[in-house]
Amino acid sequence: MNTMTKPSTLTKKTFALVGTGGRSPIFLDPIAGLYRDSCQLVGLCDTSPTRRRFHQQRLSQEYQIGPVPDYGDFDLMLRETRPEVVMVCTPDYLHHEFIVKSLESGADVISEKPLTIDAGKCRQIFEAVQKSGRKVRTIFNMRWSPGVGKVRELIAGGAIGRVRHINFEYMLNTSHGADYFRRWHSRKEFSGGLLLHKATHHFDLLNWWMNAIPSTVSALGDLVFYGKKNALARGDAPLTKYPRYTGVAEAENDPFRLDLGADPTMRALYQNAEADSGYIRDQNVFREDIDIEDSMSLLIKYRTGEMVSYSLNAYCPEEGFRAAISGDKGRIVYTEKHGSHIITGASKIIHGDEEATVHLQLQKHFSEPCLVDVPKAEGGHGGGDPLIQEQMFSPHPPADPLKRSAGHEQGAASLLIGAAGNLSMITGQPVSLDDLLPLPPQATQLTDLV
Ligand SMILES: NC(=O)c1ccc[n+]([C@@H]2O[C@H](COP(=O)([O-])OP(=O)(O)OC[C@H]3O[C@@H](n4cnc5c(N)ncnc54)[C@H](O)[C@@H]3O)[C@@H](O)[C@H]2O)c1
Repeated sequence: MNTMTKPSTLTKKTFALVGTGGRSPIFLDPIAGLYRDSCQLVGLCDTSPTRRRFHQQRLSQEYQIGPVPDYGDFDLMLRETRPEVVMVCTPDYLHHEFIVKSLESGADVISEKPLTIDAGKCRQIFEAVQKSGRKVRTIFNMRWSPGVGKVRELIAGGAIGRVRHINFEYMLNTSHGADYFRRWHSRKEFSGGLLLHKATHHFDLLNWWMNAIPSTVSALGDLVFYGKKNALARGDAPLTKYPRYTGVAEAENDPFRLDLGADPTMRALYQNAEADSGYIRDQNVFREDIDIEDSMSLLIKYRTGEMVSYSLNAYCPEEGFRAAISGDKGRIVYTEKHGSHIITGASKIIHGDEEATVHLQLQKHFSEPCLVDVPKAEGGHGGGDPLIQEQMFSPHPPADPLKRSAGHEQGAASLLIGAAGNLSMITGQPVSLDDLLPLPPQATQLTDLV
């Protein structure tokens, strides 16, 4: 599209963003580009001036907009720019702070997943929503990819009767999976661990597919591959010798190496910002201070009786997932094999014969299995990103018959599974979600929740 078109005279909806890291283009670019006639970016906030500058330059060069007022102080940005919508894209442990402040200022919020990382922080968000009457949208982009949408359609259409059980296995590989162990995600206090940071997508998918509300969780988890102790036990002591990878000659042949200098975006966004942020993006995945799990198993029970058996392993040779969904009239087996990604937004699900990676099989009781076509889609996260962007930024978003938009309660229904899992891993006992933070007691379906 021609980004030099004359500005429209329509009143534009105003947006501000906090957290200008790797994920932020997913919000910034559609506002600056495709939806510029109806949306306006009024503020950018990040504690790193280098990262703010990186996006200012990019937005100016690619979309001829700006400079956008930018801030190191979120409160000041809120006061000066009074945005209608705040987009929260910081590390996960900070989401609740920015969500609550934004709601209190009278803004609606679009928050990256997970909505937050524990029940206490989630309660603060619930209270702020209630007091302010404003709205929070949780970004569950995985709901928007065509394959998982087809599964939801089949289930909702009764193709396998009532779903009783799902077996869900997620694999992260030694590239993308390893990346969570290089930076803030590797500390529970910042990410809540992968049961929050990563599995929130998967738990949401399960809730949404079954249109059900989780009630009880039992979990096991451990750090079995990454971390210094595990490398030493495997005889991989040489891989533990340096604190980070970039610029380290010894790390040249390390298969877990990430060279920030080799990629212009990584260099500009992270390496050049080390001096002003102290954020080291390429720490050794076999260092001592990692306290999240890389291997996890959960059993989940739902209010309406459905059961899930879930696993996540972050050190696999391949990446993707497999869901076997058993209903009382048949079964669906859905698999995706993913291309690896490190820079967010670059993830793609590859369709086609050579790397045919989306596979949907339906088998009704007493019938042969059949393959179901999955429409192809362009764009990040399996084609989910452009669709969710349209919902967020288009002045007239298309109807959402699969009910893929999620508010704060549906965000909570997913994160509370992870929070309950974290607790269960410590106590060895099943955890009731209602003991953490009660969701509306009369609700029986996910769609009863906002
Ligand atoms: N939906 C998805 O598929 C998806 C994919 C990747 C990331 N995410 C989410 O997006 C969010 C950001 O992830 P990322 O990969 O961009 O992380 P990142 O580390 O690249 O960026 C985080 C940014 O937040 C900034 N920041 C930290 N503390 C701040 C503060 N107090 N005030 C203002 N800014 C602060 C950092 O300087 C950094 O620029 C996370 O919540 C993550 O879970 C979602």
